[in-house]
Amino acid sequence: MARKIVVTSALPYANGPIHIGHLVEYLQTDMWVRFQRLCGNECLYFCADDTHGTPVMIRARDEGVTPEKLIERVHAEHLRDFDGFEVLFDNYYTTHSEENRIFSEQLYNSAVKNDSIVQKEIEQAYCDKCDMWLPDRYILGACPRCKAEDQYGDSCDSCGGTHQPTELINPACRECGSVPIRRKSTHYFFKLEDYGDRLKELVEDGYVQVSVLNKLDEWFKTGLKDWDISRDGPYFGFKIPGEDNKFFYVWLDAPIGYMASCKNYCDKNGRDFEELWNSKDWELYHFIGKDIMYFHALFWPAMLISGHMKVANKLFVHGFLTVNGQKMSKSKGTFIKAETYLNHLDPEYLRYYYACKLSSGIDDIDLSMEDFTARVNSDLVGKLANLASRSGPMLTKKLGGRLGTLDDEGRALVEKLQDAKTEIAVDFEGLNYSAAMRKVASLADDCNRYFDQNEPWKLIKEDPEKARVVLTATINAVKVLTIYLKPVVPGFARKIEAFLNAGELTYSDVNSFLEDHEINKFQRLVERIDKKKVEAMIEESKQEQAPAAGEEVKAELDEPIEPECTIEDFMKVDLRVAKVVVAEAVEGANKLLHLELDLGCGIRKNVFAGISKAYKPEDLLGRNVVCVANLKPRKMKFGVSEGMVCAAGPGGVDVFVLGVDDGAVPGQRVH
Ligand code: MSP
Ligand code: ZN
Repeated sequence: MARKIVVTSALPYANGPIHIGHLVEYLQTDMWVRFQRLCGNECLYFCADDTHGTPVMIRARDEGVTPEKLIERVHAEHLRDFDGFEVLFDNYYTTHSEENRIFSEQLYNSAVKNDSIVQKEIEQAYCDKCDMWLPDRYILGACPRCKAEDQYGDSCDSCGGTHQPTELINPACRECGSVPIRRKSTHYFFKLEDYGDRLKELVEDGYVQVSVLNKLDEWFKTGLKDWDISRDGPYFGFKIPGEDNKFFYVWLDAPIGYMASCKNYCDKNGRDFEELWNSKDWELYHFIGKDIMYFHALFWPAMLISGHMKVANKLFVHGFLTVNGQKMSKSKGTFIKAETYLNHLDPEYLRYYYACKLSSGIDDIDLSMEDFTARVNSDLVGKLANLASRSGPMLTKKLGGRLGTLDDEGRALVEKLQDAKTEIAVDFEGLNYSAAMRKVASLADDCNRYFDQNEPWKLIKEDPEKARVVLTATINAVKVLTIYLKPVVPGFARKIEAFLNAGELTYSDVNSFLEDHEINKFQRLVERIDKKKVEAMIEESKQEQAPAAGEEVKAELDEPIEPECTIEDFMKVDLRVAKVVVAEAVEGANKLLHLELDLGCGIRKNVFAGISKAYKPEDLLGRNVVCVANLKPRKMKFGVSEGMVCAAGPGGVDVFVLGVDDGAVPGQRVH
């Protein structure tokens, strides 16, 4: 009997772009959904933008637009990116919706009715200078547990613990750096402990993967604290019923956004929400990253239990993406937006690579650019696409595009592939995509070996009918492998389907044989990854200036601020636009480039700049830079330096010469 399944991915914040880290999750989910559909199950996939909270409010303020306008724009951008990677949502909604407001009030009212809401006066961080309450992520300080520096107010990257912002050591406002003051206000709290026993039962019944159990155990042991679900205005969110200037905390209405998206879908498609969302006939799964486990393993099911609603069958938790072994980094160009990726590379590469890396555990997964290129080229292109492109055109061009019948050897090969059907299905179902991809690659090796040993390119001249038999087996093998790959690389699968001329492939088609059958013209499947394109993508990512979701703001504060200088002191510095007219390496120097700068009116200056790790001479030649024109000349080992080029960054390869508009004129003052 076909299963009925609702699936969600975590709702991405509406204050920043989709990046390749997010895509781990959306692609993992999408592949699972596609697999279910391939098996003939009804599987609906819901998601939405997570629109509420301070970050959206601040970003809108910075951009001079309303939060509503901002989230509308971001929604379109997110949809564009997801489309680009073929993430097949049945509905991609928003948490800023009427459905969500109604459900949020409903669940809140149930909690009130259950006596699970208490009011408490609390002291909270407030920035006088910015004139706002500081949410957890807007305060930086040292972790109260492990003392790691520069941690946010809610959780610690270093020890993984969670804390209150007020517990941070030496807190500072992330926006302006000033020390937050503490202010009193009454907040609403959800008494999580009321649901402790039922949450434990849920977890024991298999609500999470085994690899997540330890973390949960830890939380149960430290005790379930009351959860602050309110925020004071100004705040972009839903007003708490009966209050004027208090709002639901974004994390209260965010998971309710899953329901709202489902409800919106049901209303648009004439389906019964109660049945889809709340009945036992439908399974429900949430895909999330390990950073938001607390919300999904504790708060969210507790809210649902309180509201007498169904809790998901299971959470599927995944680890974090690292790039080249490290956290994604703007300056290294590894903070790659979905949009930037798509400017350079085929989405199927990343889909395939993530599938090769993903397992059911919560370990981080690494995207090594070298391994990415090598793996895609050797397996997806070299083994899988190649098998089809060696056999398909031969059959269509030389043998009239007609499949013959299988002989014993060919049948044995195809049956070997068919025999993997159950194992691979178990791998997909259990999120062990990497195991599935390993099996597929190894089966493709068998097929290529069969092809090489039978040498159809020779047979075609000597015994064309024998060649037809070999090609028939090969193309049947391509068919089976394509079914296994279909959840991962849908574009690849579509091209093979068109070529096979046998309709849309389903999982049960693994067992059928294509014999005496007319096939269509072969289309090129997938190109090899060109290293240059990967480099160009990294380069473009480096150039992107806009801060994404505050991710890298921390790095800027690494160096302490120097002692004060007066405005008069500062006015002595004469900053000018200068054009680089000579740029060359300095022999024997480790970091220096020799530059000659044109400051207009015939003034030229020699400058030695310590930037050769970050720039090649030709990168700078002809560019306008900002230069300190009145710096006292200094004699250096390699000559006299008569000025200075302004740059930012910690040093080494991470130095960024300040850019000036191309239209600027050398000699112009910089203000
Ligand atoms: N808005 C919340 C989720 C609310 S769900 C009711 C949120 N948004 S997010 O944009 O920060 O992240 C969305 C999902 O992407 C989360 O599951 C998160 O774990 C995942 N990822 C974000 N960055 C990631 C990586 N670098 N690597 C892997 N997954 C990542 O959290
Ligand atoms: Zn501030």
